[in-house]
Amino acid sequence: MDAIADHSIVIASDHAGFELKEMLKQELEALGFAVNDLGTHGGESVDYPDYADALARAVAAGEAGRGVLLCGTGIGASIAANRHAGVRAALCHDAESASVCRRHNDANVLVLGGRVTAPEIARECLRIFLDTPFEGGRHARRVAKLA
Ligand code: RB5
Repeated sequence: MDAIADHSIVIASDHAGFELKEMLKQELEALGFAVNDLGTHGGESVDYPDYADALARAVAAGEAGRGVLLCGTGIGASIAANRHAGVRAALCHDAESASVCRRHNDANVLVLGGRVTAPEIARECLRIFLDTPFEGGRHARRVAKLA
């Protein structure tokens, strides 16, 4: 998927990613995306697999073009999301990882850590994730092997 055809995005986090989720949701809405927020909706402690699973199911079912997922480090959320067939969730910490996860891995879920990634870096990763096309070619062969 090179462009997000329907401009729909699903977003989710646990409590540790909640603040960053709210910020990125505003950013997405300002960019014109229809954002489906699956929670969590506050700072109360919750379990990250519940939110990662809900988001991964929505992406795998084609309910949204892409997903943005957060927990404290991004690690637990990545592990949970990548258990779902058709989901390629990429934990990113910088512009380069956000670019390569699109160009080489055709990642359909951006994962960020609310406790480890500064808001400005997260915003940069998001914009790159949204704007960068998949290169295809030899990378398409490798991505096909993931299935
Ligand atoms: C929650 O305390 C924390 O464990 C969670 O957000 C995440 O970092 C797990 O990988």
